[in-house]
Amino acid sequence: MPDRKNFYITTPIYYANAKPHLGHAYTTIAADVLARFYRDIFLNLREKDKFKVFLLTGTDEHGSKIARKAAAEEKNPQQLVDEVAEDFKRLWDKLGIQYDNFIRTTNPKHKKAVQKVLQTLYDRGLIYKGEYEGFYCVGCEQFKNKSDLVDGKCPDHGTTPEWMREESYMLKMSDKQEELIEKIKNDKFKITPEKYKKEILSFLEKEKLQDISISREKVEWGISLPFDPNHTAYVWFDAFLSYLTGLGWNGDEKNIPIFWPADIQLIGKDILRVHATIWPIILLHLGFELPRKLFVHGHILSEGRKMSKTLGNVIGVEEMLERFSVDGTRYLLLSAGIFGNDIDITIERLVEKYNADLANGLGNLVSRVVKLLQSFEIHFAYYDERTNLKLKPNDKISKFIEKLEIDKALSYIWDIVRQSNKYIEETKPWELIKDASRKEEFEEVMKKLIVDVYSISELLEPFLPETSKKIKKALKTKESVILFQRIKIS
Ligand code: MSP
Repeated sequence: MPDRKNFYITTPIYYANAKPHLGHAYTTIAADVLARFYRDIFLNLREKDKFKVFLLTGTDEHGSKIARKAAAEEKNPQQLVDEVAEDFKRLWDKLGIQYDNFIRTTNPKHKKAVQKVLQTLYDRGLIYKGEYEGFYCVGCEQFKNKSDLVDGKCPDHGTTPEWMREESYMLKMSDKQEELIEKIKNDKFKITPEKYKKEILSFLEKEKLQDISISREKVEWGISLPFDPNHTAYVWFDAFLSYLTGLGWNGDEKNIPIFWPADIQLIGKDILRVHATIWPIILLHLGFELPRKLFVHGHILSEGRKMSKTLGNVIGVEEMLERFSVDGTRYLLLSAGIFGNDIDITIERLVEKYNADLANGLGNLVSRVVKLLQSFEIHFAYYDERTNLKLKPNDKISKFIEKLEIDKALSYIWDIVRQSNKYIEETKPWELIKDASRKEEFEEVMKKLIVDVYSISELLEPFLPETSKKIKKALKTKESVILFQRIKIS
């Protein structure tokens, strides 16, 4: 149960250099599930009007990566990011993502706030002029140490980073290192799952943090520094502040948004290091609280490898939507493995799971129960009254969600589906009804089935919202329903 009235969840803001892919969808669907879950809990509270969940997502629109892609497509960068931001919004609408704001870093209010922060930190001597020399990976938009590279290449992008040497403004880092370590250790800034907390602590305890370059002289596509217009802000500095400007923050450090600190910041493991060093240090410099929880998830792989066009193992998000529908896609992604670990998917396995869990499991259960209601003139309202179906949020699910064990929450619901299917097969209500002397038995069986199916529909709401609605409607109207059509493996 959240102990705050304002509950704030963020996804990363996605680079607007190309169309959204399955990895982006994975993070965003998970964030949407959490937001829906907490909204639901709040709705059940007496003082519900005072509680609010805020889900932020958006696009990261500055920097070399974007500028180069735009140049390659002979577009100006603004045109490119405008198109891509629309692609993201369209996809989130299709996937049923209920975000409260979609922040874009080219938004003038965001830019102004970033400039204000730069000026504040500069005036305090926390940003100073220096020179930076080192390797830079444009794919990551990050400086790389030799020890980060594998055979001289960036392990995430497989490319050789560029050597860079230029005048640059630097952000002081190490003076906040001890405070940061303390906050991570005592979970004031909780990094989870545990293995990622360990990884970051061992990094922070081994190395003194170097001051980082927060400006670029040669990258025009960015926010210019108010105290030196020949420089633009480093894209990550700009991007991190979107977590605050997305709440309408204007860059004034005295004016802390009511939703801050974030309760859950969801990120993939590739962007953990920056989120656990640069971001909290900017916040500490500003005197802001750190996010309560940084939740790190793994990557989606296919056949053990990163999806790539060259390997031919890419599964597209549109392809998944076509085959499995929105709720099928949401289910298959979230149940494909332990949330927090890498997950490995192939189309064959997805189809198999779809058929087993959705078509045969849930679909079959619901259509059988609705058919029984139809054939025997049973009124849902009658059972609703007798069983008092106003269900409270389920404790088990709450516990899983608090630990972000989204996959476990789903398996818990599917245990009910399986047991209920088994119960129908064992009790054979269609036979009971034929025997007048067993009317009571029949009623008992139906009561249990209706309660099961209704509970399932309630529990499913954050995960499969459309399906949840369809089930409730079918129970009430007794209209036949086909939830998930079996798919042939092609
Ligand atoms: N723009 C930065 C984030 C700035 S946040 C202040 C960025 N963008 S990204 O578009 O490259 O990636 C965004 C998120 O997508 C990351 O959390 C990343 O882990 C996630 N994914 C990208 N590919 C992925 C998979 N194949 N699988 C799962 N998630 C992955 O980084």
